[in-house]
Amino acid sequence: MASLPHYPVNDFGPAMKGMVIGAVGIVHVFLAQFAIGGGGLLCYFQWLGQSGREPAARRFLDGYFKALVLVSFVLGAMTGVAMWLTSIQVGARTIGLMIDEFHWVWATEWLCFAIEVAAGYAFLRYGARMSDRARLWLLILYTAAAWLSLFWINGILSWQLTPGRWLETHDLWAGFFNPSFWPSLLYRTLVAMTLAALAAVLVINTFDVDRETRRRLIHRAAHFLAPMVLMPLVALWYLAVLPEDSRRWLMGGSIAMTMFMGIAAGASLLIGGYAGVALLLRRLYINGATAALLLALAFGATAAGEFVREGARKPFTVRGTMYSSSIGIDEVVRLRRTGSVADDPWPLRDPERYASDELRLGAKVIRTQCEVCHTMDGANALNHLTDRWTMDQRRLNIAQLQRTKGFMPPFAGTPEEVEAVAQLLAWHQAGEPATWPMAGDRAEALVKIRAWMDEAGSRPASEVKP
Ligand code: HEC
Repeated sequence: MASLPHYPVNDFGPAMKGMVIGAVGIVHVFLAQFAIGGGGLLCYFQWLGQSGREPAARRFLDGYFKALVLVSFVLGAMTGVAMWLTSIQVGARTIGLMIDEFHWVWATEWLCFAIEVAAGYAFLRYGARMSDRARLWLLILYTAAAWLSLFWINGILSWQLTPGRWLETHDLWAGFFNPSFWPSLLYRTLVAMTLAALAAVLVINTFDVDRETRRRLIHRAAHFLAPMVLMPLVALWYLAVLPEDSRRWLMGGSIAMTMFMGIAAGASLLIGGYAGVALLLRRLYINGATAALLLALAFGATAAGEFVREGARKPFTVRGTMYSSSIGIDEVVRLRRTGSVADDPWPLRDPERYASDELRLGAKVIRTQCEVCHTMDGANALNHLTDRWTMDQRRLNIAQLQRTKGFMPPFAGTPEEVEAVAQLLAWHQAGEPATWPMAGDRAEALVKIRAWMDEAGSRPASEVKP
């Protein structure tokens, strides 16, 4: 019986694999949200211009649109494709599951994206020659398509975190309109408007117009910052629909996540406060440097927020269905019999390095089950986490992985694989000597490990009673 389908592997050390997805994803999300909010802002200025409310609106439209197209089309497309490359290298089976469930939703998202790009390009090429009315409609088309692509992809991404009733029914729409769908969509829409306004202030500062005109344009763009006041409410709504264990981690259970959430909230508060007082109430002028700083702060908030969202999903890529290691939760029982790497065809990098077959087995198990969240010596290093442990402590904690820390999946292999991982860690910590015989107490150890694994069970921590 096959253990698992194994997809080509890559090693991004010293970064763990999850971090690579995170880094590319954050840049992409930032650009994509800017593109959506930017569309809305363009519609607003087109309307201001054609209704005679803002004489310099046309100047803004031309300058801002070029920046938007350049940044979001070029960099957005590049990072979007990079997202696919990294996610198929890190979680091919998760992507497979998403395709199985959401094939047509994804096709629809792509259609929206295609319309967005076509409308954007048409505006760039023919906008100058079109009537005001036609320009407005083209911009509305662009914005609607951009926002709808968010609408569709948001259903898939929020399903990963809170699949809701889908878990029982496997009904597509129950999964799509899952518990975090609306708070997530609303929050991202608010973020998109914020980013668009901050970028606008930066772009306006590059315009060769008098200071009074610039000040007026900045004040107009700042209107898009006003909806930020809703952010705390929507964030609380979001928090309220999270599963109990995820929420506990955010509220102090995992201090890294708590602090990141604090940073996201603090940075958003600073931007919101500045926008409210300086831009909207006092109608101050802000220069390019300040605008760039605010935008950087917004990037920090986006990064921290995405980190928290991804972190809160651990140990799953699709909650209740598939672990971050791309192992299905119903596969663990079987893998505990067959082993997780029995038919892993991919060679280790530099296999001669290891002093024995047992250590090579350990290295493969770590690659399959742990490396999405750990490295040996770099980020979240296994070496560092275990280097003062006794041998039995390693065996016990790995055998009962989901109890050791609730954001890890249960160990999904044989007792021999647990032992191999424990030995690999000890060998590495001993300075990688040329010979490393099997443990003298191996036979008893395997019996103990099996008993520990049975005691911990094969279900995720969220299903283990305290
Ligand atoms: C879903 C991500 C994820 C996976 C998969 C994962 N871990 Fe972890 N692991 C973590 C996180 C996060 C921590 C907490 C690190 C910290 O506390 O600084 C952790 C902590 C640990 C610790 C230290 C526990 C403690 O209480 O000090 C060990 C040992 C460990 N992991 C081993 C493993 C091994 C071995 C595997 C693979 C069989 C694995 N982990 C798979 C995320 C993961």
